[in-house]
Amino acid sequence: MSSIEVIGKEQLKGELKIQGSKNAALPVIAATILNKGISILKNCPKILDVVHMVKILEELGCKTSWDENTLTVDSSMANITQISESSVIKMRSSILFLGAILGRFHEVTIAYPGGCSIGKRPINYHLNAIKKMNVTQEFSGEDNSIIHCYSDKIIGNDIFLESPSVGATQNVLLTAVFSEGVTRIFNAAREPEVTEVCNYLLEAGARICGKGTSFLVVEGVKRLNDVEFTLSPDRIVTGTYMAAVAATGGDVTFLNAPVNQITSTVRTLIKTGCEITSKDNTIRVKNTQRAKSLSLLKTEPYPGFPTDMQSQVMSVLCVADGKSIIIEDIFESRFQNVSDLVKMGALISIEQEGRKALITGVETLHGTEIYAKDLRGGAGLILAAMVAEGKSVVHDASYIERGYEDICRDLKTLGAKIRMIT
Ligand code: EPU
Repeated sequence: MSSIEVIGKEQLKGELKIQGSKNAALPVIAATILNKGISILKNCPKILDVVHMVKILEELGCKTSWDENTLTVDSSMANITQISESSVIKMRSSILFLGAILGRFHEVTIAYPGGCSIGKRPINYHLNAIKKMNVTQEFSGEDNSIIHCYSDKIIGNDIFLESPSVGATQNVLLTAVFSEGVTRIFNAAREPEVTEVCNYLLEAGARICGKGTSFLVVEGVKRLNDVEFTLSPDRIVTGTYMAAVAATGGDVTFLNAPVNQITSTVRTLIKTGCEITSKDNTIRVKNTQRAKSLSLLKTEPYPGFPTDMQSQVMSVLCVADGKSIIIEDIFESRFQNVSDLVKMGALISIEQEGRKALITGVETLHGTEIYAKDLRGGAGLILAAMVAEGKSVVHDASYIERGYEDICRDLKTLGAKIRMIT
């Protein structure tokens, strides 16, 4: 695996254009199966997770091509309803093909995607919801890990999600597009990436009401059309680089930023002392002082503070003036970067079965060798390295490449001393 070398203590300055959104691209790529034709996806990030999803499309019989950041998918010839286990286990998001393939072919065989380093990540909400749409489910293989779903007629129903799961909401939407009748999703996730799937499907001719709310209504249609769709910029990449300015100080303007999707991150970073202004789709972050601590930061479903920004803000709080508390309420194992931060001199203790972190800000961290263990935790370690004294090497950087097109290029543009050392 590759490694990233960072020499800390450089302030960030300049302008940076934000890449397309990973978590919007992944479900929309799965959704391209449904339109039985051409989908042109603009502003699609060229990241490892997208590459995996595109490989699965090809496995299913789709034709795909790239022109810079435009991905074209022709799903007219797709004819396979089974995804190989080796492809599924490469990434959790492959589970989004469950609804898409089922919606189009009324049948799908897919392996259980398993847990991952940030938590157990079961798919019971997905399966319980889809079962209610006249879908039969059979399980086979070792640990019943192969799921076979089929239906002679997918029928819309009322779906009450126990918790507003992003993936379950997306899977129900995808299953419902060609269903008979009406599907109503209660307690739907309100994340912008759910809205993005709605927007793609609406553009292709689906009938969906309530996007952006926790109550979605899908009326089944007979077919979708070819579609050209521009993916939103990535709110977590934006937040990561904004947090980098909060950590190191500086003055950066982000271009093509998803200004209306990052309110909770903006509010949080203003509390740590940043001056943040926005105009049209640009956002400017200025910071000239040591970060202030936060008495309580709690991760929540959208529009609350995102779990995907928790590790990056933790790195800011490690060098803040005072004590902070973070409560991670979405995933079980999202404090995996703590041991490396402590190795760098951070003062952090973990309580409440790994849900609560108590952070006492120190004047500075010191550079050392550290290991990314997941995507966002890895990005958080890059930020810690940028604020640390001396040289750090962040190993296992391929975790970071799953979501950031080129974190070294981006931060280097802003003046960081950072490079990939393979
Ligand atoms: N959950 C269940 N059962 C289910 C589904 C979810 O118990 O059937 C639990 C999960 O274990 C978790 C919570 O519900 O504790 C929330 O999970 P959710 O389904 O909302 O998350 P997801 O769809 O698996 C997406 C993003 C994650 C992001 C979460 C929360 C994508 C591809 N992934 O995951 O992004 O953290 O929503 O916002 O959109 C990342 O980008 O680094 C990342 C992990």
